[in-house]
Amino acid sequence: MEVVILAAGKGTRMNSSSPKVLHEIGGRPMLSHVISSALELEPDKIHIVVGYGADQVATKIEDEFPDVPVNWVTQSEQLGTGHALQQALPDINTDSDENPVLVLFGDVPLIRKETLSAMLLEPQADELSLLTFEASPPAGFGRIIRDSDAAVTAIIEERDASAAQKLISEVNSGIMAIPAQALPSWLQSLGNNNDQGEYYLTDIIALAHSEGVAIRAFMAQDEMEAMGVNNKVQLALLERHLQKNIANDLMEAGVTLRDPARIDVRGTLRCGQDVVVDVNAIFEGKVTLGDGVSIGPNCVIKNASIAAGTVILAGTNIEDAEIGPQASIGPLARLRPGTKLGANTKIGNFVETKNAIMGDGSKANHLAYLGDVELGSGCNIGAGTIVCNYDGVSKHKTQLGDNVFIGSNSVLIAPVKLADNAFVAAGSAVTSDVPADSLAVARGKQRVIAGWKRPSKS
Ligand code: UD1
Ligand code: CA
Repeated sequence: MEVVILAAGKGTRMNSSSPKVLHEIGGRPMLSHVISSALELEPDKIHIVVGYGADQVATKIEDEFPDVPVNWVTQSEQLGTGHALQQALPDINTDSDENPVLVLFGDVPLIRKETLSAMLLEPQADELSLLTFEASPPAGFGRIIRDSDAAVTAIIEERDASAAQKLISEVNSGIMAIPAQALPSWLQSLGNNNDQGEYYLTDIIALAHSEGVAIRAFMAQDEMEAMGVNNKVQLALLERHLQKNIANDLMEAGVTLRDPARIDVRGTLRCGQDVVVDVNAIFEGKVTLGDGVSIGPNCVIKNASIAAGTVILAGTNIEDAEIGPQASIGPLARLRPGTKLGANTKIGNFVETKNAIMGDGSKANHLAYLGDVELGSGCNIGAGTIVCNYDGVSKHKTQLGDNVFIGSNSVLIAPVKLADNAFVAAGSAVTSDVPADSLAVARGKQRVIAGWKRPSKS
């Protein structure tokens, strides 16, 4: 079977400069969702018809599916869905009398493999099948016209429909399986005598019917799955639907969601047992949570793995980080890319880390910046510690051994090394290495001037 995905339209009703099929649902372009479902059917070929923003679309998709050979077809002028399929025709094998050509729309993103398979199971080789759904309201979609025997005879676009036809609530999803051999002649016969002056793919239904070809309309159980996105309202509607399904799957797998309506997963979230997620958490990219992990309210977590028993407190932001077991992070912490924290580590409020490796049991409990730094285990970073990793030109590294203690309000000016058990007095500016088991005091000595008089005006 060959799959053709139509994705050339600009999506005028999105009111955006970005091609419609690149607008995201669940953190991925709509087109990517369609490709993923198509791939599950193991098609012989995938053709994607692109036009508006063609390069942008191809770059994005090739980035996401580097191993999928896509036949990119260009439709330079968007003259309609029928015209779009015509552009792919020369590349489609139409000799086969067995396999249909499956047409998918890049703006019908939530279609599932199971539904497509069910639809593809039914027809005989010379039959045409069509995925329809009950839309409430049906506005904007092509209406399915049936005769008195309930056989499908045509699809009428909203703009061409009579008042009576507009009342029909069964509509076209755009998804069709067309017998390959019949495709060339049907596409050839399409005209553009309609309200939009476009070549409508939907017109092949009436053509097929007039040739006595059986048309099987398969109705989608879930209207959201067959729903097309033409504007931001529909985009948001499908986003909510996807999020609701993800939340249900998580809860069925044992995750406690304090409010299933207030979690967003824009990527994949894998959870162990007894994970608890409080409200307004956003997960992006690939996130893994071990057994018993707890995520506080208002956290944003992207591409991270968090091991068993770790607690992430309110308002914490994590990106490209690995966190060991039984750690406590936040509230209001920011872990930036390259952060690797061992077991039982602790990061408190207003602590920012970047390229920071912390050994087991190390702590930075209060406001601090730890950049390009490696800490051994059992270190204690005092409040207000700043690692000066940047000299205005380049970044330098700071290394701490095990059990190093940094007194509050100190700066470690990289590159600098502090060996095991080094101790830095509060308020120090450390500019040179501190050997093991030693104390570094690097601050102005206190002077006391007795009986000192404050300056006065006269
Ligand atoms: C289309 C159907 C309508 C159906 C609805 C389902 C037609 C004529 N109408 O209407 O019956 O109910 O989808 O969502 O088919 N495209 C191209 N080239 C073009 C025009 C469109 O590739 O020249 C692509 C678009 O990028 C989009 C898809 O085809 O992915 C559908 O196009 P769109 O303009 O959104 O059609 P609708 O008006 O929604
Ligand atoms: Ca559409």
